[in-house]
Amino acid sequence: MSTGKVYRISEHKTVTASLAEYGVRIPTSCDQGICGTCVTRVIAGKVEHFDCVLTDAEREQHGYFTPCCSRAKGDLLVLDI
Ligand code: FES
Repeated sequence: MSTGKVYRISEHKTVTASLAEYGVRIPTSCDQGICGTCVTRVIAGKVEHFDCVLTDAEREQHGYFTPCCSRAKGDLLVLDI
């Protein structure tokens, strides 16, 4: 069930860092897109991927992204967290 909460992500911070400021913690380890610890499913929205851990299938078919380094392409991402 969705909380319906909307959080503004700073263009100067990562998704994980910005969410942490709101008290929403996504576990991280490398913060560079190489370990996969932070992998999160995207329910809606487009992602600009900067990781080197996810396959194309994981990104496109399963909707995963790495919020430690990847960014939204548009104005809104809906995440399964
Ligand atoms: S924390 Fe390692 S990929 Fe995000």
